[in-house]
Amino acid sequence: MAKRIAEPTKRPRERAFLVGVELRDQENLLSMGDSLTELGLLAKTAGLNVVGEITQRLNTPNPKTFIGSGKVEEIKALASETLAEVILFDDELSPRHQRELEKVFGEEVRVLDRTALILDIFAQHASTSEGALQVELAQYEYRLPRLTRAWTHLARQAGGGGGRSGVGGVGLRGPGETQLEVDRRDIHRRIDRLKTDLEKVRSQREQRRNRRQRSRIPVVALVGYTNAGKSTLLNQLTAAQVYVADQLFATLDPTTRRVDLATGSPVLFTDTVGFIQKLPTVLVTAFRATLEEISEADLLVHVLDITHLNVRAQAESVLETLKEIEADHIPILTALNKIDRLADPQAARAALETFPNAVAISALTGEGRDDLLTAVQEQLYEMFSPLEVHLPYSQGKLISLFHEQGQIERLEHGNGGVFIQGRIPGRLKAQFGAYLRQQESEN
Ligand code: GTP
Repeated sequence: MAKRIAEPTKRPRERAFLVGVELRDQENLLSMGDSLTELGLLAKTAGLNVVGEITQRLNTPNPKTFIGSGKVEEIKALASETLAEVILFDDELSPRHQRELEKVFGEEVRVLDRTALILDIFAQHASTSEGALQVELAQYEYRLPRLTRAWTHLARQAGGGGGRSGVGGVGLRGPGETQLEVDRRDIHRRIDRLKTDLEKVRSQREQRRNRRQRSRIPVVALVGYTNAGKSTLLNQLTAAQVYVADQLFATLDPTTRRVDLATGSPVLFTDTVGFIQKLPTVLVTAFRATLEEISEADLLVHVLDITHLNVRAQAESVLETLKEIEADHIPILTALNKIDRLADPQAARAALETFPNAVAISALTGEGRDDLLTAVQEQLYEMFSPLEVHLPYSQGKLISLFHEQGQIERLEHGNGGVFIQGRIPGRLKAQFGAYLRQQESEN
């Protein structure tokens, strides 16, 4: 039957049985139990109904079935007892493991892994064409090595939406080709087309980004673990109506909004995809372009749900992902969010002491909003270079650039121009090179 790998889950809610494995030499940020709880939340977000769970500690994965054969039998019995239709693994299964497990579990249940599940959620939540294309590409890349003879005509079903077509496709076969080969060829073709389409969308976005860079407004990217409150914070900082939901990965596409700081200087805040431990590599690759928005920011605000039991592990996992996308060189300000939920107000203060460069906020109530903006302002200020320039009046553009982007400490008119002493974002400094006051330009 053609319906067992990584298809988008559909209503009515399917019943899912969770399987967690702890491998002896594998370093995990979360304990097996916490990771499984998170998997349960992911399952719920994807529209599954969790009916049970089981765990196993292993020295090494079983080469055939990932978990031990006894465990497989145990799960089989439990699945039948709980009427589970999906067996959901908390780790990414290799294509071989997936195939073998499908064989043992039979036609009645689907075998899914964490990666397929996250891909499914992403497919449901992608709202822009770029987001949708990126997810579809990731889904195909994930599925290609997992194609089995039993799993045919999938091209019609992939891409986050389609129905479960069981017929058709045969007429497309070339001479001597098996259905599997047709499917593979079809997927390769689709992958190529998706890449071309993505290129187009990306070049449009690139243009938008270039325009933004030309406008030279500092960019602050909100980063954080999924559900930490980034979208809520962006809404709190601006009047933006960014989608907020108590579910994982509600936001996939970058949203950028302008905020004027108390000094009057504008800043662009960008909200983008949330992170999670064990973020599938296919997704990091597919979303690289989106994630680049983060790596080009001037400052990162790391939003943390301070009320979450695993806040430290979540923070760690975010920092790891930042490293992976080469954004770990950017200064970070930490926003300890959801303080309105803390029963003990002292707890926020204690947390502030343990996280460097942090501000306590409630994105929901707005508490700490001004402190955060002040901290952003100070941080950006520190990143500004001091500058003394003599700008002729003919350089009106540079004069207004300094007014808009810089912080003016002294300004004097005279001598066919204006003398300005102040600070300017480092990246703008070169534009003023020809007008530096003598002593500056000599340095
Ligand atoms: P992703 O899109 O998954 O990356 O999530 P996100 O980080 O954008 O989180 P979002 O803003 O969607 O918020 C997640 C949930 O936390 C929502 O139910 C929010 O209402 C809630 N939330 C966010 N900030 C606060 C806060 O300061 N206090 C409280 N009590 N709830 C908050």
